[in-house]
Amino acid sequence: MKKLTLKTTVQVYHNIDELDPVDQKILTMAHKATKDAWAPYSRFAVGAALRLANGKCLHGSNQENAAYPTGLCAERTALSVAASRYPKSPVVAMAVTVKTKDIINRPVSPCGSCRQAIFEVEQRYGENIRIIMQGQTGDIYVCNSIKDLLPLSFTADLLP
Ligand code: THU
Repeated sequence: MKKLTLKTTVQVYHNIDELDPVDQKILTMAHKATKDAWAPYSRFAVGAALRLANGKCLHGSNQENAAYPTGLCAERTALSVAASRYPKSPVVAMAVTVKTKDIINRPVSPCGSCRQAIFEVEQRYGENIRIIMQGQTGDIYVCNSIKDLLPLSFTADLLP
């Protein structure tokens, strides 16, 4: 038996001003996008914003449904907007944040399904997606690729 040690690097910023201006822009967009969330069941409004290689920035928010599994997370809503409008342009960065009644002051990170969906977009375009995560306030976590959040990923090349 041997052990495989998997390493993840997360950059931690204390303030949005410390981020690159292009990252500041999408994090601010993600905060604003929480206002468009349809989250009457969880009251957990998530905002996601993307920057594409063509310079366009897009946002999405979670859209819930009374039949709970039918709802969609903010990250996948944003990715669907991007793939529908600009299918030729890789996604280069994504910001994710949240708004709830009780202020969350630690970063929210994409759920497992969203990690898999983001991973597929990285694979599709062959480009890493920088992931920027923040709660309503507090520290900002940045990873250079979804692979940092999804080690030992399930990849399409295993399929027949
Ligand atoms: N949610 C997201 O939008 N993104 C995530 O990564 C985690 C969860 C949404 C789904 C649901 O509408 C609410 O947050 C509570 O789970």
